[in-house]
Amino acid sequence: MALKPVTTPDVEAPNIELTIDGEPVTSKAGVSLYDVISQTGKIIPAMCYHYTFDPFGSCGMCLVMVEGKKAPVRSCTAKAEAGMVVRCEGEDLHAARKKAVEKHLTIHPLDCPVCDADGHCELQDMAFQHGVTSLVNAKPKGLPEDRRSLVLDFNMNRCILCGECINICKDVQMIDALQFFKKEGTTHVVAKGDNPLVCEFCGDCLAVCPVGAITNKYSKYVYKPWQLKKTTSTCAYCADGCQVHLETSGKEVQRVTSPLSWKNKWGDRAETAKGHGGLCVRGRFGFQYIDSKERLGRPLVRTDEGLVPRSWFEALGLAVERLAVIKAKHGPRAIAGLITARCTNEELYLFQKLMRAAIGTNQLDSSARYGHLNFTRAMQHAAGVGRMMNSYEEITKAKALLLIGTDVTETHPVTSLRVKEALRVYGAKVIVADSTLTNMAKLASHPMAIAAGGEGAFIRALVKAVVEEDLVDEAATSAAPEAFAALKRAVSKMSWEVLTARSGATRESVVEAARIYAEASRAVILCGEGVTRRANGYANILNLVDLAWVTGKLTKPGCGINALPEEANEQGAVDMGVAPELLPGQASYAEEAARARFARVWNVSLPDDAGASLMEILARCRRGEIKALYLVGENPLATLPASTGVREALEKVDLLICQDPFLTETGRLAHVVLPACTFAEKDGTFTDLQGKVNRVREALEPYEEARPDWEIFGAIGTALRYPMEYENPQAIQAEIMKMLPGYYNLGEPRRVEAKPEGYLAKHYVREVAGRYAEEPPAGKDAGPFSLIIGQVLYHSGKLSTRASGLIKLYPSKGLLHMYPSDRARLQIGDGDAVRVTSARGTVELRTEANADLAAGTCFFPEHFNEPAVKDLVECRVDPTTGVPAFKLARVAIAKIGAERTPA
Ligand code: SF4
Ligand code: SF4
Ligand code: SF4
Ligand code: FES
Repeated sequence: MALKPVTTPDVEAPNIELTIDGEPVTSKAGVSLYDVISQTGKIIPAMCYHYTFDPFGSCGMCLVMVEGKKAPVRSCTAKAEAGMVVRCEGEDLHAARKKAVEKHLTIHPLDCPVCDADGHCELQDMAFQHGVTSLVNAKPKGLPEDRRSLVLDFNMNRCILCGECINICKDVQMIDALQFFKKEGTTHVVAKGDNPLVCEFCGDCLAVCPVGAITNKYSKYVYKPWQLKKTTSTCAYCADGCQVHLETSGKEVQRVTSPLSWKNKWGDRAETAKGHGGLCVRGRFGFQYIDSKERLGRPLVRTDEGLVPRSWFEALGLAVERLAVIKAKHGPRAIAGLITARCTNEELYLFQKLMRAAIGTNQLDSSARYGHLNFTRAMQHAAGVGRMMNSYEEITKAKALLLIGTDVTETHPVTSLRVKEALRVYGAKVIVADSTLTNMAKLASHPMAIAAGGEGAFIRALVKAVVEEDLVDEAATSAAPEAFAALKRAVSKMSWEVLTARSGATRESVVEAARIYAEASRAVILCGEGVTRRANGYANILNLVDLAWVTGKLTKPGCGINALPEEANEQGAVDMGVAPELLPGQASYAEEAARARFARVWNVSLPDDAGASLMEILARCRRGEIKALYLVGENPLATLPASTGVREALEKVDLLICQDPFLTETGRLAHVVLPACTFAEKDGTFTDLQGKVNRVREALEPYEEARPDWEIFGAIGTALRYPMEYENPQAIQAEIMKMLPGYYNLGEPRRVEAKPEGYLAKHYVREVAGRYAEEPPAGKDAGPFSLIIGQVLYHSGKLSTRASGLIKLYPSKGLLHMYPSDRARLQIGDGDAVRVTSARGTVELRTEANADLAAGTCFFPEHFNEPAVKDLVECRVDPTTGVPAFKLARVAIAKIGAERTPA
């Protein structure tokens, strides 16, 4: 139970005593009386209340009698006061509540047989609970349904004007897309301005609507709630780890619902700091790929006629036979494998075991290589921390939040709600440094525009500001005087002129951000792809470690450094050791003792070479050293730019095996294609960005002949004469538990503690100068525009493009987003095509205006390859981690037909 409004987590409100139904109760002053009553275990009706937002007091159901008051009091909006004597039950209260129900019902359409909420409706429950048996005076409103939104229909005949939809959108989402609006003599809930609803489509309003006034277009009239089987699982899109209820009938997913619901309205307001139980648009409305007709139903094998369906026996037999022949002829190092971090922990563990123990190769990698490994490797190296340092609660209760290079409402919408709560409820200072005016920048107390690709320079500038403005923490720096002296030397060599030019931030704004961060008692850094997926991503994180260390924030509770991994289980991929440099538990593969431990348990001798990660694997494929490549859920042809030589690599190998729920661009080149299950068809776990291990549960039978990845790994390993027979994912879990005791005990993530002492004493002085050395300026032929290739809210990688619900909201339009004045300057209109040219080539496409971009930048969504804008980008590989950076390029843009490119 928390104060309403909660202003600061640091101030303890005084305790008060009051009496509820004759029992003495202790509470905090100023808290909603309804919360105090609920805390005693009494549940009184409340149709407009939800613990996640401030009470509204519209439904008239939560009535109680307070001594000294003549009429019943609405307990949700009444504040608890010392000495209050409260009565919650009695015939008078029952009658008053019954009257409120009747009032709502007399204007209700009573179309329950055709209402999606039938059987899942609080008004039905209340009518039943209060014995409402006659509705002779009912006068339904007779309003037409508002079907203008792409996803949600609003039936105002059924609306009881509780305001929950409006309040959750305003308070929790801070989107404020809905309002009450009077028209035709009746109050309606409409999108702001009575326009068609255009919002983030999180569906939280749908989730809390207690009646059937808001309905989901994607599953309307196709079920009755009691016909659906409900399976609780974990969303497979991003790393926020949201719990989803997959509601299925037969072989189809009918809808996805969330723990956030009007049914779960009783909770502790302070608990929302740990999450509010809702979903984002991807999790709630992006389920159609699961039972899509485009799924691969049978294995395919390449013949002279192309890829043709074959039995599992034949396809798997062929794959195994050819793997065995290649291994016998060329050795295990002629084989490599890549796996998506959308697989479960158990599958990721088994994959690396298959590659290392059954096949004998250390050439393996996962999609965590696309950025998250820059973070975990740097944090391990400097602080002995292998994941995000802060929990949702710590983010929510931070005094200062520094967001760099993360469009968090697009990439991690549910994590973004923690930042929003920090802002709105706890009054945190929020700095958002980004080239785009992101949604979070619009809400932030301190939005700071920086240059596209200027994140690294901005971080270096912050460190310089902290040192020069004497914002350092004496205790932290004096514990490592040599390291601090080396840092001072390194930053003194950087000029403000260069730093401000590179970062795009003014010196004043850098100093202001540094001061806010350094002076906050709890300061949290959140960064995203603008930091980890850029060239120098590893060094960027080490520089953030410098910032946190010298300000005393690295080891202080409530402070920390966090990078947001994109895919659902990137953290799991790192933890399960799916990287040549790591063993399960993030043990170093280079350490002989660690290798020996796993070799003993797996009963093999492990390859003792450094192996190869993603980009080196592709290079070895091109050179003919790797003859067989096994891809699990990875589609490098669609992900990587042409400049990486990915096509040449894939076309060169003798054996390409693709295991995926869909036939992808890469799959079309394969010799063997194996149909895999989606997350909805298997059991297992994902590890979310907080380090929580969440259950994935089978909601559907596998699609046609698709099989779970773990089962396929087991079959291949066993066929290669290495026993990998697991009855179920629990058996794999049991093995992981033996190797990594405690891994599955993370119901609440354990706090990770930074231990930088060894790093500061041993490696620091040698390494620091290089990290602050000046970057070479962009080449002379670099174009005048920065092209950013990035994520949008409605999509996650390429998987979401298979979800018809998300494609409806955000189709592939093939348009380049440009800043309006740039378009005007180049005289580009909506129908005009432009030529975008980089050192890597030219692409022609049309444009659309996007006023949130900075002048001189343009944007293309990474989810679509039509046209192939990604191929304009040069890939730069991080020298330490092998992470490829390919999301940013300098380009020239010219209107086709214009005589020459204006500068
Ligand atoms: S779907 Fe989400 S953003 Fe849109 S109106 Fe509802 S609560 Fe607001
Ligand atoms: S639409 Fe639903 S949640 Fe919104 S005010 Fe009406 S009944 Fe309440
Ligand atoms: S995509 Fe991420 S934020 Fe959205 S529901 Fe799934 S896990 Fe949650
Ligand atoms: S719950 Fe108090 S008035 Fe609705």
